[in-house]
Amino acid sequence: GVLGEWGWWLGLVFGAGPLLCLAAWHAMDAWYRAAFFLKHGSQRRLPPGHMGLPFLGETLSLIWHFKLARRPDEFIAAKRRAHGGAGAGLYRTHLFGSPAVIACSPAANKFVLQSPDNFGARWPVPELVGITSVVNVEGAAHARLRGFITAAINRPSSLRTIAAVMQPRIMVALASWADMGTIVAATEIKNVTFANICKMFISMEPSPLTEKIDKLFRDLVAGLRSFPLDFPGTTFHSARKCRRKLNAIFREELEARKKVGRECDDLMGGLMHMEDEQGRKLRDEEVVDNIVSLVIAGYESTASAIMWATYHLAKSPVALAKLREENMAVSKSKGASSMITHDDLPNMKYTAKVVEETIRMANISPMLHRVANRDVDHNGYTIPAGWSVLVWVRSLHTDPGNYENPLTFNPDRWDEPAKPGTYLVFGGGYRICAGNMLARLQLTIMLHHLSIGYEWELLNPDAEIDYVPNPRPADGAVMSFRKLST
Ligand code: HEM
Repeated sequence: GVLGEWGWWLGLVFGAGPLLCLAAWHAMDAWYRAAFFLKHGSQRRLPPGHMGLPFLGETLSLIWHFKLARRPDEFIAAKRRAHGGAGAGLYRTHLFGSPAVIACSPAANKFVLQSPDNFGARWPVPELVGITSVVNVEGAAHARLRGFITAAINRPSSLRTIAAVMQPRIMVALASWADMGTIVAATEIKNVTFANICKMFISMEPSPLTEKIDKLFRDLVAGLRSFPLDFPGTTFHSARKCRRKLNAIFREELEARKKVGRECDDLMGGLMHMEDEQGRKLRDEEVVDNIVSLVIAGYESTASAIMWATYHLAKSPVALAKLREENMAVSKSKGASSMITHDDLPNMKYTAKVVEETIRMANISPMLHRVANRDVDHNGYTIPAGWSVLVWVRSLHTDPGNYENPLTFNPDRWDEPAKPGTYLVFGGGYRICAGNMLARLQLTIMLHHLSIGYEWELLNPDAEIDYVPNPRPADGAVMSFRKLST
């Protein structure tokens, strides 16, 4: 009868289903080991680990640890327990649609990040980030492009201009938050960060167009983290469309500038006019591709770091008091103008420690993506050609062996420099973040104006933390925000 049929189905789902999964799980790993053995014999070894399930690899485990259990560091800790100690700091796995090796020790990470011949850049979807973008090109082309970009954003002279351009906007934003009284910090900080980016990169003031650009970027970034299924209705499909629309918008701006010969002292202007030693300039599509990818690299990351600064300071009154004291002193020395300049930075030592500690704990990029260009041997193991390599930087920053009480916000730990190779928040080697000084500057400026003029309290100090897509308190850090009462 009906019951018998149900029983049959239940038996299948709860009995045979898991058994089949288990068989598939073993088969997947055996398959990769066999293929490796056929190619290399017994002389070489794959790193320890497990390839997971067919098609999915260890995606479910990653989702479990990052999204459901909200214990992201357990993902690597579980591997250490299952496959022995920290070992060579290498584990085999299958993630983001590719067989992969995870590098998660200072030595292994350094090895990967500093061997451009062995490991190339590999973003899960290069096209979304931009084919001619600095994050995708290699070798001499990469060095040249990087030179242009760091000259435009990361040099003291550029940072000086940027500081002057950004501050009025930040001061206005903070005053408006105090008028609101209660804010969702993640949202407000994103808004002001984006307004600053539009100004720095393409000299655009907030308008319906910049709102549209903002929306396009949000959908594009969502696609970067989505499963690459490309048909109408998927996040990935919509992200590809957004990328094309963004390229068109920036292209139009570039053409308009060329037509009227308009010169702008912004990133686009810088990239349009810069020349290498042979007098060659960037092609138009390179300028556009790189502006788009710079927004991807610098927008959410910076906004997220600033949000975490407000969050941790709200929970650390002692740190906030020290920060305030230092910044009040800087502010007093300036008289009426409360804008800081590049020259004030040497007097803001505690602020600098707050900046580093915030970025360490924010873990904005949990891992960096590379691909093995050839079979590469390290510490007795082989990383096979074509496999992706995930440089797991997050685990360095949350390892009690590297940082005492790693989950405690403690700016004073920066009285001592970090142990070599344990601080890779901006990556390392020849691809180290091209905007790291700009990111630090934006945080510093924010901290200055926040601490001298305002006070704030988290309304849900015990809100759960989400780790996907980016680490943030689940409520976006809702806080009461008001002018400092003196
Ligand atoms: C707190 C904020 C930021 C964090 C945590 C961060 C982190 C990183 C990391 C980890 C990398 C290395 C990626 C890799 O090796 O594959 C990177 C690269 C990069 N970042 Fe940032 N970043 C931040 C802000 C910015 C800003 C503000 C900009 C510029 C506007 C920027 C531009 C870049 C660029 C262009 C690269 C690629 C460099 C290359 O491939 O040569 N970043 N960033």
